[in-house]
Amino acid sequence: MFIRPFKEQDLSEILAIERASFTHPYGEEVFNHLWNRHPEGFAVACEEDKIVGYTLFGVDDDGDGVLYSISVHPSARHRGYGAMLLEYSLKQLAKKVKRVYLQVAVDNLAAIQLYLKRGFTKKKTCREYYEDGRDAYLLVKQLR
Ligand SMILES: CC(C)(COP(=O)(O)OP(=O)(O)OC[C@H]1O[C@@H](n2cnc3c(N)ncnc32)[C@H](O)[C@@H]1OP(=O)(O)O)[C@@H](O)C(=O)NCCC(=O)NCCS
Repeated sequence: MFIRPFKEQDLSEILAIERASFTHPYGEEVFNHLWNRHPEGFAVACEEDKIVGYTLFGVDDDGDGVLYSISVHPSARHRGYGAMLLEYSLKQLAKKVKRVYLQVAVDNLAAIQLYLKRGFTKKKTCREYYEDGRDAYLLVKQLR
């Protein structure tokens, strides 16, 4: 397994992982927009020549790190890829920012566990954060 930067030709595989992972998946335009804005913040996890997951992160206008999304294909879960993608993202962000934040749906127990076990703490609940009305937790981790 290895992690490498995203390439344009990866997009169809990323979209398939996204659709298999979320009820309201990011579309092609969102990925292209975020990739243009944060060209160093889009990376994929590969098993040989197959993409099994991705991470998307960057630095916001206030100089804080933001994790937009980490996702692993359902067929490749529980094998450490999510944790590896998170470690990769935090290592890259630590070169540039002092803290990192993200929003996660309050019912997304797997992701919440992933983040809390790796030092994120709940800062607040963002009511009706998602378009379907679900709430999100704002999670924050101090990097230095
Ligand atoms: C969250 C997600 C990325 C985890 O990926 P994964 O490759 O299965 O995770 P790992 O195997 O690396 O496990 C890492 C940690 O996640 C947590 N975790 C993963 N699946 C879990 C589950 N079903 N229940 C509870 N905790 C879980 C655990 O804390 C685990 O650490 P541990 O093994 O030390 O207990 C994956 O479930 C996913 O893609 N979900 C859909 C997309 C999503 O919701 N992304 C987060 C958006 S904020």
